[in-house]
Amino acid sequence: ASPVTLTTLQRMRENGEKIAMLTCYDAAFAALLDRAGVDVLLVGDSLGNVIQGHKTTLPVTLEQMCYHTACVARGAHRPFIVADLPFGSYQQSPEQAFASAAQLMAAGAQMVKLEGGMPMVDTVQFLVERGIPVCAHIGFTPQAVNQLGGYRVQGRLEAEAERLYLEASALESAGAAMIVLEMVPRAVAKEVTRRTDEMITIGIGAAPECHGQVLVLYDILDIFPGRKARFVQNFLAGAESIHAAVAAYVNAVKSGAFPTEAHCY
Ligand code: KIV
Ligand code: NA
Repeated sequence: ASPVTLTTLQRMRENGEKIAMLTCYDAAFAALLDRAGVDVLLVGDSLGNVIQGHKTTLPVTLEQMCYHTACVARGAHRPFIVADLPFGSYQQSPEQAFASAAQLMAAGAQMVKLEGGMPMVDTVQFLVERGIPVCAHIGFTPQAVNQLGGYRVQGRLEAEAERLYLEASALESAGAAMIVLEMVPRAVAKEVTRRTDEMITIGIGAAPECHGQVLVLYDILDIFPGRKARFVQNFLAGAESIHAAVAAYVNAVKSGAFPTEAHCY
């Protein structure tokens, strides 16, 4: 199959074909996810949790993100590869963000993801104008966990929801081609998606109405110890192999069977 590009993803959005995205941190899984039909691989800084055993994503370094991005890029051929800018590698200035993003792109990323709303608008524009596709990330943003006071749903209050609409709109205007909506009420994620013109919305604890869904690979394979979040589904249960579990996830996203109301807030 021909490689998934940003254009492919935009066409899928237009045609109402759901985008299946999973996190991925190494070459062997990248090849397996490729064969199982995953459209987008996210080299997430959640590797700080699942690979490194940290309590938060804050200690993850740019060098580590580049290493994992290169591993994934060597394993995958069809999927589009998005890599997270880790904490501290982009918040200081658009220039700092560009220098960091350039390293991720050189390692094999085709798009970079960064967390934050209004303070990131200028940075998104700076990167996009210089040829780096950007995925934004709003709602619950794990790098801000200490400020958000824990793993909590964002946008339950009307004023908070309005802020999310403004952030999404400003990030789209700045050129973000994609946005992750994490832990927001279904109605809010649906409304953010409805208000977009071209930006691709990807939900995690958000809404089936998003253009695509993402989950942490280890969560769908039930191999991350700790309590399971509401938005996670174990796709290994009942599957004959890891490949079958991942294919079941892809199928569930494509058919609209995942997420259900039980996975939403
Ligand atoms: O790092 C990550 O895994 C992420 C997703 C959960 C969106 O950012
Ligand atoms: Na992340």
